[in-house]
Amino acid sequence: MKRQLANLFYASLRAAFPNEPDDIEPLVAASMTKFGDYQCNNALGLFTKFKRNGTHYVNVHAVGQDIMINLSPSEMIESCSIGGPGFVNVKLSNNGIAKSIQKMLVDGIETWAPRLPVERVVVDFSSPNIAKEMHVGHLRSTIIGDSIARMLEFSNVEVLRRNHVGDWGTQFGMLIEYLFEKFPNVEDINETAISDLQAFYKESKKRFDTDVAFKERAQKATGELFILGGESKYRQAWTQICEISRKEFDKIYECLGVHLEEMGESFYNPYIPKVIEALSNQGLIEVNEDARVIFIEGFKIPLIVVKKDGGYNYASTDLAALWYRLNEEKADWIIYVTDVGQQQHFDMVFSAAKRAGWLPDDDGTYPKASHVGFGLVLGEDGKRFRTRSSEVVRLVDLLDEAKVRMLEEAKERQKERLKNGIIAIHWTEEELKQIAEIVGYAAVKYADLKNNRLTNYTFSFKQMLNHKGNTAVALLYAYARICSIIEKSDQNIQELKTTGSLVLDHVDERILGLHLMRFSEVVEEACSNLLPSVLCDYFYNLSEYFTKFYLNCQVSGTAEETSRLLLCEATVTVMRKCFHLLGIVPRDKI
Ligand code: ARG
Repeated sequence: MKRQLANLFYASLRAAFPNEPDDIEPLVAASMTKFGDYQCNNALGLFTKFKRNGTHYVNVHAVGQDIMINLSPSEMIESCSIGGPGFVNVKLSNNGIAKSIQKMLVDGIETWAPRLPVERVVVDFSSPNIAKEMHVGHLRSTIIGDSIARMLEFSNVEVLRRNHVGDWGTQFGMLIEYLFEKFPNVEDINETAISDLQAFYKESKKRFDTDVAFKERAQKATGELFILGGESKYRQAWTQICEISRKEFDKIYECLGVHLEEMGESFYNPYIPKVIEALSNQGLIEVNEDARVIFIEGFKIPLIVVKKDGGYNYASTDLAALWYRLNEEKADWIIYVTDVGQQQHFDMVFSAAKRAGWLPDDDGTYPKASHVGFGLVLGEDGKRFRTRSSEVVRLVDLLDEAKVRMLEEAKERQKERLKNGIIAIHWTEEELKQIAEIVGYAAVKYADLKNNRLTNYTFSFKQMLNHKGNTAVALLYAYARICSIIEKSDQNIQELKTTGSLVLDHVDERILGLHLMRFSEVVEEACSNLLPSVLCDYFYNLSEYFTKFYLNCQVSGTAEETSRLLLCEATVTVMRKCFHLLGIVPRDKI
């Protein structure tokens, strides 16, 4: 809709101001006031400009008036008016909204996919570190990154979902040396031998910090490991360690239904020397305190790209990865999802890339690199989320707990329903488990996504498993309720899509319809600003508007039944897509 209106206003601006040397970009925004559903805000800027050069316009209102007069009639528009500082309010026609929704019902929600100015995007997300526990920060990265990837995929963008696992670096020499000490036979190194990689990491670190001879051996092992393409026993041990970690990570990805392609730090290692050399040839690299660095305007400390000892680090890898993604993978947008603590690192890497001419200076143009930062997960005590024994919370435990709590709830609900004689579906134990898993995981995801990602959020099972309010549980129930309204009507809804006709006469029908139609614009905004919370807000409002509609507009047995069923169907269609974009699988019955 916004695009259609923008096209209309583009034409009217041209017609109203034929002497303007350049095309005027129409500024159209949703407005949701009693004066209109959209507005065009060009008048103010134009009037300011005209005044500078002398103009016959007496005020900004008159400029708005001219834009309005030149607007071609359209069946989408019911009326226009001028408001405030010259903006043109547009009230859409009920018929136009209804038609557009019915068309979507027939042609599919894919026809409502936004159009984005990019073709291929890398989303670098999740990215845990080998031999370390995946913590709640990685959970946030996984959930937020997956949702961003899904929104972009829906918008017909090719998405390369990259898991930039930390599988390289000096710590591996330490781990391997310790591994050999414990298991002199490489064959003995298996999952059962080191079931707890985390504990193993800690033990080896302790040894590294306290035993000088061990430390030296570990450093030597790191050197051996880094001989490219080497097939040494070091390399074998490293592969084993990665494999064990990978299995742990995969369990989580499976629970969450998240798909990622692993291209860890080690993948980019062979590209580092070439990239550093190129940067060096451009004169960007300087020697500073024996390290090789890039100085970046606005930062006191430089970006270290080769350490004192000649080794590479996190930044060297990220520079090589960025180079690869731009030049080999030809991505036009590269998105990194990590906690805000890494903001400075990415700012520096992106600035270096701009200095090298890999990226344009202007952030508004492509190719582009964006850091999607997020805040901390807090416990209910307001402190960093930890277990009682102040350990990092294990993600598997957390997801399990959501499931278990939800199962208890579901059983309780079922008992309650039976006691009160409410005729409802009687679920078997197995079905209840399935539902609890879907709802439990959905609750964890939604609680994370609904907040503006930059703010810290408090992890509370009680809050996220609530049946009321802005939670996945409430939305899943709402969805199932609408599905059952449609089912109970005993109408062939597929047929109605073409034979029936949608009319939005009641004010609550119109509000719901208008909101449905805005879906595409909302996804576009969520993609452009990389904010899944924008979609969650929309989703929650959708369920609220539906509730209001259903309260005030009877569906079954009325003259409007067909039309209202179509509105129900459009609501479930959009809801289903919202769930999908948030990585949640809804059920028709719950
Ligand atoms: N492994 C890092 C961590 O756990 C995240 C990596 C993010 N991606 C990147 N290209 N640096 O903090």
